[in-house]
Amino acid sequence: MTTPNGNHMHTVDLETMKLREQVFEYARRRMNYDPPPLDGPKTISQLRQEVPETVTEEGLGGLEALNLFENVLAEATISNDHPNYLSFIPCAPTEAATLFDLIVSASTIYGGSWMEGAGAVYAENQVLEWLAREAGLPEGAGGVFVQGGTLGNLSALVAARHTATEALKASGKAVPTRWRFACSSEAHSSLKAAARVMDVDIVPVPVNAEGRLTGQALAETLEGDWDGIFAVVATGGTTNFGIVDELEEVGKVTKAHDVWFHVDGAYGIAAMLAPSTKHLFAGVALADSFIVDPHKWLFAPFDACALVYRDPELGRVTHTQHAEYLDALENPEEWNPSDYAYNLTRRPRGLPLWFSLATYGVSAYREAIEQNIQLAYKIADEIRRRPDLELVRDPQLSVVVFVKKGWTLEDYTKWSNKLLADGIGFVVPSSHKGEPNTRFAIVNPRTTYESLVQILDTMV
Ligand SMILES: Cc1ncc(COP(=O)(O)O)c(C=O)c1O
Repeated sequence: MTTPNGNHMHTVDLETMKLREQVFEYARRRMNYDPPPLDGPKTISQLRQEVPETVTEEGLGGLEALNLFENVLAEATISNDHPNYLSFIPCAPTEAATLFDLIVSASTIYGGSWMEGAGAVYAENQVLEWLAREAGLPEGAGGVFVQGGTLGNLSALVAARHTATEALKASGKAVPTRWRFACSSEAHSSLKAAARVMDVDIVPVPVNAEGRLTGQALAETLEGDWDGIFAVVATGGTTNFGIVDELEEVGKVTKAHDVWFHVDGAYGIAAMLAPSTKHLFAGVALADSFIVDPHKWLFAPFDACALVYRDPELGRVTHTQHAEYLDALENPEEWNPSDYAYNLTRRPRGLPLWFSLATYGVSAYREAIEQNIQLAYKIADEIRRRPDLELVRDPQLSVVVFVKKGWTLEDYTKWSNKLLADGIGFVVPSSHKGEPNTRFAIVNPRTTYESLVQILDTMV
């Protein structure tokens, strides 16, 4: 084939076809690993030595660049889907979800507007509507998949404040000089980040002994002083402990004051699908908005957060961008995902989850999440049996936090580094109230009890 105007970058010629096969071959190899190598970071000076300047006038050629990626860069990159990746919140996409991510990449779909991406948006919306139904929200609830929970929380809170401001203006009341929202003292750091971006204050509400925000604590903390409170955020599965706030009680207190109720379920709301933990999430039905990250516990690849509004119109009037060149997209009959969050151009990042759900069905999800929870309970029992270990709190979902008695942060760090260097697992130190500990965050159905026991055995 010829390369008209020298546009070989956009031409399917023999060179491209060869590269294409090599790329597919690499993707196939990566997906065939069972498990994938854990790998681990290298220092910048090591990487400088191993990977010379790759961005050059002439280019290296695809095969050389791919070779560098596979043999150096990928090896310096931890596999989040390794079954013993147990730090932070791992990511364990299903086979179907990973495969479909390739199709999304190959398809150049603009997922911001119905006009351009109707088919993709329709499929994404089926997933959002399903999530809303599972959460108990009424028909008509919906939203958008954004990049991550940080952006999802921010977008929901911006909509909450906009709604509160408009309501005050409509009733002729003064808008407060400082806005505030309340959340538990154990809520995720992204809420502090949102407060900074929005220039609002946070009212931290103390948690009970189990680490849960309660309706009573919320009422007592605000003690009738709800002035300037535009939202209450409850957490459906804290990151550190996987603890679910008393969502129903908190929701009732919040709604009694006619305030926006947001549930941050970035990690944990997935557990509303599991039969044994479904009841913990009954209060999400009261929410004005909630988020859940498919890249956390809904087995989808990075990066996606489902942001769902009870009344999506409140999100739309808050976030729609207006510009002459965008006017063509404004059709009240159509659903433009960009209108529902702080974003414009977007990849239809909900599609890998859609394909996975369509492939395997919801009950496979229920089983896989339940399996993770039961595994967390089982390894917690094993920790209870070991005299040198102690649970910091009883697990509620699939995060197990524990201490090795007498260990300092240095002990945890040395142990953790060796575990990674030996390719056994990725389990970093954490802390609670200034005391070091470590945690297993289990969201990968390929994580086994035996491998967790093996990791505990290395804590000597
Ligand atoms: C409860 C909770 N909220 C929000 C976030 C932020 O999500 P993201 O990292 O996708 O921005 C996280 C991330 O771990 C989380 O656990």
